[in-house]
Amino acid sequence: MSKVRIILRPNGPLRVEDPEGLVELCDANGNRFDLTGKPAFSLCRCDGSTNMPFCDGTHSKIGFRAAETAVAAETQAQAGPGRGGFCKTNMPIGRATRHARCAKMP
Ligand code: FES
Repeated sequence: MSKVRIILRPNGPLRVEDPEGLVELCDANGNRFDLTGKPAFSLCRCDGSTNMPFCDGTHSKIGFRAAETAVAAETQAQAGPGRGGFCKTNMPIGRATRHARCAKMP
């Protein structure tokens, strides 16, 4: 059995790789989207697609920047290490609370 992989494309969709067709994608009412013959598909996360929930490439036209990279880069540039939502080793604060190395640093 192959694993289903979900990959965050840089500044783009969530790419779902499902070679064995194990994934069911349903709307809010439980109705399934037809994924017949699709070993992989991309889900929009920029909210700009005209073919929701699938990516149609609009993210590149509107300059979508994924939060996990855009926020980190901008905040780091403004605040520097140890401030602005990052620990002393530049890990996001949410992860830093579990980051034992930072807890030992002065
Ligand atoms: S992520 Fe591609 S259109 Fe939204």
